[in-house]
Amino acid sequence: MEAPVQPLTYGRYLRVPELLSLQARLSEAHDELQFIVVHQVFELWFKLALFELETARQHLDRDQLDEAARLLHRSTTVLRTATSALDVLETMRPWDFLEFRSRLKPASGFQSRQFRELEFLSGLKDPRYLRNFESDPEDWAALQRRLQEPSLWDAFVGVLQRRGLPADDEPRLLEALIRVLRESGSELNRLCEALVEYDETLALWRYRHLLMVERVIGARPGTGAEDVHRAFQDSRDYFTGVSYLRDTLSKRCFPLLWEARTFVERD
Ligand code: HEM
Repeated sequence: MEAPVQPLTYGRYLRVPELLSLQARLSEAHDELQFIVVHQVFELWFKLALFELETARQHLDRDQLDEAARLLHRSTTVLRTATSALDVLETMRPWDFLEFRSRLKPASGFQSRQFRELEFLSGLKDPRYLRNFESDPEDWAALQRRLQEPSLWDAFVGVLQRRGLPADDEPRLLEALIRVLRESGSELNRLCEALVEYDETLALWRYRHLLMVERVIGARPGTGAEDVHRAFQDSRDYFTGVSYLRDTLSKRCFPLLWEARTFVERD
C-alpha cells in the first residue's frame, strides 16, 4: 500500500526546519546569533538580486526594455531592504562584538562569492578578487563565468546599438546617452533611470556598510585583512578594514550614465 500523500504545509514548502538549523554559533556570546542571522539574510537577498538581474539582462537582449527596468527596480528594492538590516547590526556595541570577533578570523564578508558575482554581473569586473577563490573550484568557476559573460552594461550597450545609436567608443556612447536622457518619457530613458537608481543603491550599501563597520570596529584591521592583501598584492598595514572600504566608495557600475547627466540641458 502506498503511503498517504502528506498535504503541503508552510514549513515543508519553505524548508523552515532546515533553514532554522543553519545558525551555528561558535561562542556563547549573546550577539553572535543576530550577527549570523543578518549575514544569512543578506546572502538570501543577494541570491534574489542575482536572479532578477540575470533575468533583466535577458530582457535587454530581447529588447524588452520596460520589463528589464521593472526587474532592475526590484533588484534595487532588494538591495535597499537588505541595507536596512545593517540597523540591526548597529544595535551591537563594539565590546559586544569583541566577545566573539576573534573566533571569526580569517573569515570576512570580503569572501562573499555572491557579492562579487553581483559586482561582476553589474559590470565591475576586477579579476584581482578571484585570487581569494582559488582554493574553491566551484566558487572559482562561478566567478570566472561571471567575468566572461556579458554584464548588464554590455547588454544595455547592445540595446543602443540595435536602435542605431552610435555606441562603438566612449565619446560617442556618451553623446548617445545625453540624447536619451533628454527624451524624458521614452522607454530607453526609463531604463537609464532604473540603471542609475540601481547603481546609486549599491553605492549607498557601500557607504552604509562602511559607517556601520567604523562604528563597530573603528580603525582596527578587518578579519579579512589577509585576503585583502592577497587580492591587491599590497600588504601595507593601512590597506584593510575601513581604509580599504573607503577606497571602494567611488565605484560606479555605469559611470557614463552619471557623466551624461552633467551635459543634460533643459528642453
Ligand atoms: C559587525 C559587522 C561587520 C563588520 C565589522 C564588517 C567588517 C568588514 C570589513 C572590515 C571589511 C573589509 C575587508 C576586511 O578588512 O575584512 C568588510 C568587507 C565586506 N563586508 Fe562586512 N562587516 C560587517 C557586516 C557585514 C554584513 C552584514 C555583510 C553582508 C553580507 C557584509 C558584507 C561585506 C562585503 C560584501 C564586503 C566586501 C566589500 C568590498 O570588497 O567592496 N559585512 N566587512
